[in-house]
Amino acid sequence: MAHVRAKRRTSAALSPPVTSTRAPNTQTPFADALLRVTSLGMSSLHALPVSGGRSIEDSELRSKYRDIFGDAYLAADGSMSGAVLDSFFRPKSSLARAQRIAAEAFGADSTFFITGGTTLANRVAIDAMADFLTATGKAAPRVLADRTSHQSAHFCLDRAPLDISYCNQRFCCDRHGRTWADVNDLVHRYREAAASGDHFDLVVLSGANYDGAMLDMRTLLTELLQHSESLNLIVDEAWSAINAFHPGLCENTALAAARHVLAENPTKTIRLIVTHSAHKSMSAIRQGSYLHVSGDDELVQRVSMSLYRNHTTSPSLPILASLDLARAQAELEGADLLDRSLACAQRLGLLVNEHPEYSGFSVEESPGHDDPWIVPDRTKVLLTVDPSISDACELRLRLARDYGLYVARVVDHAILINLHIGVTEEIFQRFLAALLEISTSGVVGPPSAGTDTGFLVAYPPGIPLRVPGQKAGSEEERRLTEIHKNNAELFQA
Ligand SMILES: Cc1ncc(COP(=O)(O)O)c(C=O)c1O
Repeated sequence: MAHVRAKRRTSAALSPPVTSTRAPNTQTPFADALLRVTSLGMSSLHALPVSGGRSIEDSELRSKYRDIFGDAYLAADGSMSGAVLDSFFRPKSSLARAQRIAAEAFGADSTFFITGGTTLANRVAIDAMADFLTATGKAAPRVLADRTSHQSAHFCLDRAPLDISYCNQRFCCDRHGRTWADVNDLVHRYREAAASGDHFDLVVLSGANYDGAMLDMRTLLTELLQHSESLNLIVDEAWSAINAFHPGLCENTALAAARHVLAENPTKTIRLIVTHSAHKSMSAIRQGSYLHVSGDDELVQRVSMSLYRNHTTSPSLPILASLDLARAQAELEGADLLDRSLACAQRLGLLVNEHPEYSGFSVEESPGHDDPWIVPDRTKVLLTVDPSISDACELRLRLARDYGLYVARVVDHAILINLHIGVTEEIFQRFLAALLEISTSGVVGPPSAGTDTGFLVAYPPGIPLRVPGQKAGSEEERRLTEIHKNNAELFQA
């Protein structure tokens, strides 16, 4: 196979942003509208009895409700739409304005707010693209999919009227099972298909994954666009929404990359849908997700219809408001907060590498550090613990039990630390103190891979170990053993 050589770019080496002249927009029209409506204290003759705490006024459970949700949340969680607030599926006022401002901030033609996470956003995106492509008359449009995509993309692709080819995946090293797309393979397949006249109609990519591997979007889009006049893309950037607001990182977002590549190829077309789990990297409430569309008005209409088909008809108003607020906060403060995260990551690396008190710990290279197609997300740090000090699962347990620090992912002898913008200096110091204390205080059989031919998925991180049609192999057995040891959940679908 002829390998395409990508030029190595690091996050620090990315070129300056093209949109840095835009002044931060601090307007929050939807959040303001919700506050206004909430302050009216309207009683609902429609639904949601718990709104405003009304159905629990005399309940024995009232204090538990209040302790978990708070009065403000209960008041904001209403069922208003249409004339009183705005229509979710046909927004015209406050939600329309909030989504328009978000689109401007991220550099999209249109942005949709979603209250079912990026799991749902990916479904909406794939359904819309499938609809768009089949409308051109092709019975089963050809899709080239990143094998390391999140399960939500896989499950939806599997059911759509699409002809799917998966590109290969790469692994970090034998021990950790961190994975990312084999981009040489992806480019090779795309180019060969174009050369044979049976081109791919859609490429689905995992642009920023759980473990901190981000695709070098500009180089990749430039390469793909060399082989076709138009490119249809879905890029899942679940973990990196905040990057759009950082001058050193925003140029590697799919939306910015597409803008650049189109400026260099003005006669070509890129139709792009990007999904962002706002709640993973920004100050949005859980399940808040952005879906951005760019490149084609018809595609925007298809997304709108797909949203209507797939989304709950009872979107959470607090989540919608948080998507409005999170964008405004990111415009104002995102770059500084991300700088704080990056500085913490750098300090952690220096401390464990250079200070003997932390000698039981080491920071692993980012996944794909030796792959020119990958840009490292430096806010994700894989910290290895020497087994003579602590088992990694035991370390996770002690961090939670003794220091109030939650870690989700354990891989082999390591824990994954996500230094997101909510990791304050105080939390970071607590984490360092915990490591120091643990380093000085000193320390079930695997499920069978079977012969099932469906999906086999471990969470975290939600990337299938096996996709339909793939045979179980020794690599899968080894990773199953590791998953079992690390208490991740295993699902067959
Ligand atoms: C790459 C990727 N995409 C999508 C998702 C799903 O996002 P959400 O939790 O917002 O549904 C995840 C969750 O871990 C993910 O890692």
